[in-house]
Amino acid sequence: MGALHVIDHPLITHKLSIMRMESTGSKDFRTLLNEISMLMGYEITRDLPLEDIEIRTPVAPMCAKRIAGRKLAIVPILRAGLGMVDGLLSLIPVAKVGHIGLYRDKKTHLPVEYYCKLPEDIDDRTVILVDPMLATGGSASDAIALLKKRGCKSIRLMCLVGAPEGAEKVLSDHPDVDIFIAAMDERLNEHKYIVPGLGDAGDRLFGTK
Ligand code: PRP
Ligand code: URA
Repeated sequence: MGALHVIDHPLITHKLSIMRMESTGSKDFRTLLNEISMLMGYEITRDLPLEDIEIRTPVAPMCAKRIAGRKLAIVPILRAGLGMVDGLLSLIPVAKVGHIGLYRDKKTHLPVEYYCKLPEDIDDRTVILVDPMLATGGSASDAIALLKKRGCKSIRLMCLVGAPEGAEKVLSDHPDVDIFIAAMDERLNEHKYIVPGLGDAGDRLFGTK
C-alpha cells in the first residue's frame, strides 16, 4: 500500500520557505530546488537494499555492503521536474534519466502529454518520478500510468509542495506508489493552484511568464 511521507527536515523546510517568497528570483529558486532535491534524495533512497561484498582495506579484508537490487531511473515531468534532476544525480550518478512532457490545459486543468522518452530498460528499474508541484494530482497520476504502461513495477513520486486533493488522487489511482513531499499545503484555489504554495514552479524556475 502506497504511503505519503512528509520530509520536513529543518534544512528542507527553511530552504522551501525562501523558495515560496515572492521576492525570490529564478537563480536562487533553481539553487534551492537543487539543494532540496539532494536532501530529499537522501530520504527517498533510505530503504534501498544492500548486499554483501568482500573487499580489502589497506589494513584487512572485510565484508562490506553495497547497494543491490534494481537500478534507478530519474524521470522528471517537464518542465518544472527538470529542476530536481541534478540534485538527485549528484547522489546517484549512475541513474538513467527519462523525460515525460505534460502541461496542464489552461481551461480544464487536465494534463496534456507532449513528450515521452524513457530508458529502454525502464521496466527493470526503480523509477523516481519528480515534479515540484502536486496540485490536482492529474499530471503525476498520468505520468505514473504512462510508466506502468511501459512495464514499470517500482515507482516512487518525489514532489516539493502538494495539496491534499493531489495526494489523495495519486494514492487512490496508484496505491502501490509511495509519495515523498517536503510540505503538504492547505488547498487548491479556483485556478487549481496550491495555496499558499509557491506560484507557478516552471515559470519561476525558468523566468518565463
Ligand atoms: C505544473 C507542475 C506539475 C503540474 C501540477 O506544470 O510542474 O507538472 O502543474 O499540477 P496538477 O497536479 O494539477 O496536474 P505545468 O502544467 O504548469 O507545466 P510546466 O512545468 O511546463 O510549467
Ligand atoms: N502548478 C504549479 O506550478 N503551481 C501550482 O500551484 C499548481 C500547479
